[in-house]
Amino acid sequence: MRFDNKIVLVLGGNSGIGLTAARMFASEGAKVHLTGRDQSTIDAAVASIARATGYRSDIADAAATEAVVQAVEEADGRIDVLYINAGVGGFAPLREITEDAWDHTHAINLKGCVFALQKAVRIMGKGSSVVVTGSIGAHGALEGNGTYAAAKAGLFMAMKVFAKELVTEGIRVNVVSPGPIDTPLLYRNPGMSDDQVAGLKEMMIANIPMKRMGESEDVAKAVLFLASDDASFITGANLFVDGGLIELG
Ligand SMILES: NC(=O)c1ccc[n+]([C@@H]2O[C@H](COP(=O)([O-])OP(=O)(O)OC[C@H]3O[C@@H](n4cnc5c(N)ncnc54)[C@H](OP(=O)(O)O)[C@@H]3O)[C@@H](O)[C@H]2O)c1
Repeated sequence: MRFDNKIVLVLGGNSGIGLTAARMFASEGAKVHLTGRDQSTIDAAVASIARATGYRSDIADAAATEAVVQAVEEADGRIDVLYINAGVGGFAPLREITEDAWDHTHAINLKGCVFALQKAVRIMGKGSSVVVTGSIGAHGALEGNGTYAAAKAGLFMAMKVFAKELVTEGIRVNVVSPGPIDTPLLYRNPGMSDDQVAGLKEMMIANIPMKRMGESEDVAKAVLFLASDDASFITGANLFVDGGLIELG
């Protein structure tokens, strides 16, 4: 019960890694607030998690995130753990990247995540912590991943800077960087058929030292560790959850 009576806000908590983490936070005693874009999966998440509250909110819209923070403040007065997890994928080689796709990905994966921290930190205090979902994409070159990799690399470095700024306030900020994880994200790549996704999975498994895809639980366990007092002397860190792909690959 590491999160007994803690107030946890999971941005992107209605699917995949974020949903699993939200469930695990609640099972360790937290009162969870979660966001997403899709109302039906938000409703399903809230129905399956005790004491949870859901908000339909686009992280690319900083004013919408501020409204969520205000709602959490009205309900519970503070945030003890902020998990910034919302993100979108999408592959395109250099010659096929469009400005719209670049702007869309960066508005969510970089700008939205940064302003979410700016808005939420107002109601966070000493002893609270922030975990952000990065990606191994920020640490290794994969053809076609330029747009996503650039956003996640920017996010990684921005969070390191904010960790330094917030350390004097007693707020820890850490990044978890997943490798290939079997979540709905893989099937949301525009322009990829199910067969292509299956081929991509096979290619990824062949390259992972542990020879398997990660599961949401693998990442969520690392998120809960970094968010908890077990990591009380850890800030500005990056934890790869990738079956050894980056460190041993
Ligand atoms: N799966 C992987 O292999 C992998 C690897 C490295 C990093 N990651 C990162 O892990 C994080 C979670 O992804 P996942 O794999 O669990 O995929 P997922 O199931 O697609 O989850 C993505 C989550 O982000 C939310 N989201 C996306 N755009 C949003 C927006 N504009 N505003 C608010 N919420 C938004 C989604 O909500 P809706 O469903 O309502 O859109 C969903 O809750 C992402 O940041 C992703 O980049 C994943």
